[in-house]
Amino acid sequence: MSSVAPENVEATEAWSGPLFDLFVKYRDLATAGLGAHGDAAMEANPPRPGDRVLDVGCGFGDTTRRLAELVGAEGSALGVDVSEPFIAAAKAEAEKEGAANVEFRVADVQTLELPQEFDYAFSRMGIMFFANPVAALRNVRKALRPGGRFCAVVWRRKLDNEWVHRAEQVVEEYLDHPEESDEPTCGPGPFSMANADTLTEQMTIAGFEAVALQRSDLPLKIGNDLEHAVEFNMALGPAGEVLRLWGDRVDEIRPEIAAKLREALADLEGPDGVVAPASTWIITARVPED
Ligand SMILES: C[S@@+](CC[C@H](N)C(=O)[O-])C[C@H]1O[C@@H](n2cnc3c(N)ncnc32)[C@H](O)[C@@H]1O
Repeated sequence: MSSVAPENVEATEAWSGPLFDLFVKYRDLATAGLGAHGDAAMEANPPRPGDRVLDVGCGFGDTTRRLAELVGAEGSALGVDVSEPFIAAAKAEAEKEGAANVEFRVADVQTLELPQEFDYAFSRMGIMFFANPVAALRNVRKALRPGGRFCAVVWRRKLDNEWVHRAEQVVEEYLDHPEESDEPTCGPGPFSMANADTLTEQMTIAGFEAVALQRSDLPLKIGNDLEHAVEFNMALGPAGEVLRLWGDRVDEIRPEIAAKLREALADLEGPDGVVAPASTWIITARVPED
C-alpha cells in the first residue's frame, strides 16, 4: 500500500480496529442508513456506462460493486480505503459475488497517487476523516481526467441529524471529550464537512469547479426497538466515540446514560423500529477541461 500520512496514522488504527469491529457489529443498521443517502446521490448523479470509477473510502465496498454494475463490463470500479480489514472484507465479498470489473486497494487517499485515468469518483461518507482534506481531495481530482466528475455524500449539521445528535447531547451532560485515552480516534469526524462554505472552499482549493451542494433529508433507522437504538447510539457516532474513548473509566455511569438515552429517543420509536431524521449534502463537482 502507499504510506499513510503521519497525521492519519491514529485514525487508520481506529478504522482498522475498533471502528471496523463496530461497523461489522452494526453493519445492517449502518449500511442501510448510509445506503439510502448514498443511493439518492448515485441515482441523481450516476456514472456513465464504460466509465472508469474511483470509490473513495469504500468500506465494505458495496457502493464500489454497485458502481461497477452501473458502468457495465466496458467500465470498471476501484475502491480505496485506508483500513486493511475493510478492504479484505470488500475483496472477499466481491469475489463471492463474482464481480469481474471491481478492484480494491488499501490506501490513504491523502497520500494516494493514481494515474489520471478515472472518469468519475464517488464517496459515501468516506471523505470526512482526513487530517488534511484539501490534500486528499486534490489527489482525487488529480486521478480524474479533465472534465471528470466527482459526487460525494457527507453529513450536514448535527442539529438536523437527530439519529446521533440526541445521543450526543445526552452524553455531553455527563462527559467531555477525554484529554487522554488509550483508544485511537477516528480523525476529524463525521461532521467535519457539514459547513457548506468550508466544504465548497476545500473543493475549490483542491482544484474542482462547478462545486454544488444539494441538501438531502432521509430518515435513518437506528434500532429495531428502543433498547437496540440505545445500544447503537452508545457504540457509534459522536456519543459512541466519547464513550469508547473513556472506556471502562465510565462504566459506573453507563446505566444512567442509557436510561437518559431511552427517554431521549422514546418518541422516535414506531412500527418500523426507531427511526430518526438524518440530513446530508450531496456534493457534485467537475475537473476543469484542459
Ligand atoms: C463512515 S465509513 C464509510 C464507508 C463506506 N463508504 C460506506 O458508506 O459504507 C468511512 C470510511 O473511510 C475510510 N477512511 C478514513 N480515512 C481514510 C483515508 N485517509 N484514506 C482512505 N480511506 C479512509 C475508513 O476506513 C472507512 O471505511
